[in-house]
Amino acid sequence: MKVFNTIDEITRFRDSGIKGTIGFVPTMGALHEGHMSLVKAAKEKCGHVAVSIFVNPTQFNDPSDLGKYPRTPEEDKMLLAPLLGDNDYVFIPEVKEIYPEEDKRVFSFGTIEKVMEGPNRPGHFNGVAQVVSTLFEIVKPDMAFFGQKDFQQVAIIREMVRQLNLHVEIISCPIVRESDGLAMSSRNRRLLPEHRKRAGEIYKTLVTASEMAPSHFIPDLKQFVTDKINAIPGFRVEYFEIVESMTLISVNDKTDLRPGEHYYGCIALYAGDVRLIDNIELKLE
Ligand code: PAJ
Repeated sequence: MKVFNTIDEITRFRDSGIKGTIGFVPTMGALHEGHMSLVKAAKEKCGHVAVSIFVNPTQFNDPSDLGKYPRTPEEDKMLLAPLLGDNDYVFIPEVKEIYPEEDKRVFSFGTIEKVMEGPNRPGHFNGVAQVVSTLFEIVKPDMAFFGQKDFQQVAIIREMVRQLNLHVEIISCPIVRESDGLAMSSRNRRLLPEHRKRAGEIYKTLVTASEMAPSHFIPDLKQFVTDKINAIPGFRVEYFEIVESMTLISVNDKTDLRPGEHYYGCIALYAGDVRLIDNIELKLE
């Protein structure tokens, strides 16, 4: 496994005559099994794998969230080393390497950014698009791997690739969970023990909602999930939306459903001061 900190090193490595497809896994570090599943998928599909570890300041709308973001580069490298070979690398740049000057680009993603994380984290997806497009430019991948956990992020990246006419195939990978069902996240380590103990109920509630989905009205499903999570001491739902998978149009009535489409229930909540997200596919008919 090679470790690069600069764009120059990557360019020299690519120019040294490596052959085969490049698979890319962008991350913000504090790696866990969820990230590793993306690296494994990239290894399976591509000749070379690049993993980036960069806590991107432009996607944090809350500066205290940026400050609190866990940074564990040494542990991260130890986790990656057994998976990455001599033709693979991890890229760990400084902020000025990625942003030698302020990135003033403003993206517009239409309806996809109007729901869920969009209004609740203003500027977040613009920052994600800035950093991912810049990293794509540096790494020049054939395929890039993203987790379904950040459901809306995948839709944003696909739209960005379409708008910028990039030749990168976006692969979305399933959510990796703890044994109690909690979606793995770098933020989980910040949960208070009493919140961690009950956090498995988030996924269990989503599973129950998916079982209820064919026989219940959409507003009742939404109420069920919201009430169930808000009843856990210290937990507060920010939103639970049911959206069409590609357009992210929010649906509130079964007459809005379109044949052949897939629908997902997406939740964001606070457990204490830790913000968590999760989602599940819902078969509504
Ligand atoms: P980060 O939160 O580090 O996540 C990196 C990738 O890992 C994302 O594609 C995310 O969806 C995926 N991931 C996280 N938890 C997962 C889980 N439990 N199961 C499966 N995949 C999981 O997402 C970001 O970083 C940033 O926004 C980034 C794309 C790197 C841009 O800065």
